[in-house]
Amino acid sequence: MRIEKETITIRSARIADAVQLNNWWNDGAVMQHAGFPNGIGQTLNGTIQAIQNWQDIIGQLCLIEIDDRPIGELSYRINSDGVAYTGWKICEVNYQNQGYGPQIIRLLFNYLFTDPTIKNSWPIKRVQWDTLLENKRAQYVYETKLKARKIGIRENVWQDQLGNWRSSVDYAITREEFLVLE
Ligand SMILES: CC(C)(COP(=O)(O)OP(=O)(O)OC[C@H]1O[C@@H](n2cnc3c(N)ncnc32)[C@H](O)[C@@H]1OP(=O)(O)O)[C@@H](O)C(=O)NCCC(=O)NCCS
Repeated sequence: MRIEKETITIRSARIADAVQLNNWWNDGAVMQHAGFPNGIGQTLNGTIQAIQNWQDIIGQLCLIEIDDRPIGELSYRINSDGVAYTGWKICEVNYQNQGYGPQIIRLLFNYLFTDPTIKNSWPIKRVQWDTLLENKRAQYVYETKLKARKIGIRENVWQDQLGNWRSSVDYAITREEFLVLE
């Protein structure tokens, strides 16, 4: 898939992106918001395999580019109940807090709710995602800039890489809610 708007491009990951993704995924500073403060410790072959595995899923792993420069990644998976589970991160710190995140997320939602192939084959009722309870910036962006609905908090739902129990905040936006906002 490929979405372009002004300086932003969202496109399917390719094997050629493995080095970039591997660098981000193994970087604890990038991955700490996901509960991996030491990075995920993946080999380059492991990352290549991960990119290939995504090709079997109803969903995509994508690179986010600004002015043709890779600055982050996102992904979505569509399940049989018409729910798309999404995730994203702006990995390059210089591109965080610049207002790109909400634009990128809206482009993704617009694609998921309006793309003709998706609508015909796997129509999506709502998009759902989560973030760590400590990620106050993300929660602020989802609630104030995306007008997303907070579904709830799951307390101590999983143990992170250091063995700490972590809590997640769940968010959702339905097709109707999103299209009204657009
Ligand atoms: C979370 C993320 C998508 C937000 O996108 P972004 O482009 O950085 O967000 P914006 O620049 O539009 O807005 C950031 C807002 O958060 C505010 N903010 C920054 N730090 C904050 C904090 N600790 N608590 C609350 N708000 C904070 C900023 O002031 C800004 O608000 P303002 O525009 O009203 O001043 C992006 O920062 C990101 O990908 N971060 C790294 C990975 C990550 O956290 N991914 C999400 C996991 S669910």
